[in-house]
Amino acid sequence: MSRTSTTATTENPPVRRLSDWDAGRLRELADEHGTPLYVQDLERVRENYARMASAFPDADVRYAAKANTSRAVLRTLVAAGAGIECASAGEVERALAAGCPAERVQYTAVNPPGEDLDYAAETASERPELTITVGARDTIDRLEERGFDGRLCLRVNPGVGAGHHEKVQTGADAKFGVPYDRARKTLAEADERGFDVVGIHAHAGSGISGEALDSHRELVSRMGQLARESPVALEFVDVGGGFGVPYRPEEEPLDLESVARATREALGEVEATLAVEPGRYLVADAGVLLTRVNTVKPVADGRVVGIDAGMTHLARPAMYDAHHEMRSLAPDAEDRERVASTVAGPICESGDTFGTHALPIPERGDPLAIGNAGAYGYEMSNQYNSRPRPATVVVDGTNDAVDRRRETIADVTRLERRVPWV
Ligand code: LLP
Repeated sequence: MSRTSTTATTENPPVRRLSDWDAGRLRELADEHGTPLYVQDLERVRENYARMASAFPDADVRYAAKANTSRAVLRTLVAAGAGIECASAGEVERALAAGCPAERVQYTAVNPPGEDLDYAAETASERPELTITVGARDTIDRLEERGFDGRLCLRVNPGVGAGHHEKVQTGADAKFGVPYDRARKTLAEADERGFDVVGIHAHAGSGISGEALDSHRELVSRMGQLARESPVALEFVDVGGGFGVPYRPEEEPLDLESVARATREALGEVEATLAVEPGRYLVADAGVLLTRVNTVKPVADGRVVGIDAGMTHLARPAMYDAHHEMRSLAPDAEDRERVASTVAGPICESGDTFGTHALPIPERGDPLAIGNAGAYGYEMSNQYNSRPRPATVVVDGTNDAVDRRRETIADVTRLERRVPWV
């Protein structure tokens, strides 16, 4: 895969904290477009990509689109030189529609529904440069039945997993990939059956940092070993994504250069190109979710602060107990005393909370920003409680534009059909 060069600026800090965002601009966007509102900064996406590309200069960087599929984000990354790793037919469609050349698109099929394979096989017949990654022999059979004999990558279960929560550790989970000790045989068989076997793939999990990086290294070392023992010459060894980002102010960012060095060392000598699949790292700190205080209720040990964003807009706290920083955007926030505030959304579930934050005494109508919302934020939003999904705005230098309009209640009920007898 070719990559156009990106200009890494000297002003490219390894992390953008919530406090680094321009409060005045965010306040204006909240006033103009309403809340809840996702804001994604394309300039920061470019910076994150530039850092990744310079840490892994000879590797293919394939953006894991599942973190944020905004067309503007995809186009920005494609223009910077990234490939796109897709988790479904829908994501392949989005990657191609965003102008990603098929040779840089990789579809990772996880227990793929038949429709996804129909789509992938048909797309590959028109664009044979597309690569399909399979994690079971069964999937190879199903592709063959559909007439596909193109570029095939084998997902391996390396037996080591890592990640910020047990729900996102894939490496040792039997659901993902062909068992390591069967990989060689499966590669040889696929080759004999006429597929163009181009690579091997594994992914330890998501949100890896600190000591968990040992597991990442172990995974890479096993993949290097497999590449050397592969019965088929490989074009690439894809070691997945999972590069963690700091969600709390006291957490340090990853030292990407040393992660890259350790990855190279662990991989050892291989004839194939290294590929990585960062999702979160490229988009998380480039996005915030703007919301507004709608209810303030004093309680014994502080206050409950009701906001107009909930678990339907940002599911990570409810789903993984994830921490997201929160900042008041009230113009006089600095002058207010800080109080313990339990921030809760409008959904009828006790899990619909964003935790307790020391916020400048919140008042009804205050705009707030929720940090690190650029990855797995809008993507995991849903319409539970019949709540419309928010709008998303992209900013780029002094430009800004809505790239996904806010849903209305009419959108939420749009798919309903009348059942004739009730
Ligand atoms: N490659 C594969 C095959 C993956 O399954 C994933 C993420 C990635 C790459 C990218 O991982 P990242 O670099 O973003 O960590 N919803 C969860 C994360 C689930 C990730 C699933 N797979 C969250 O909000 O933390």
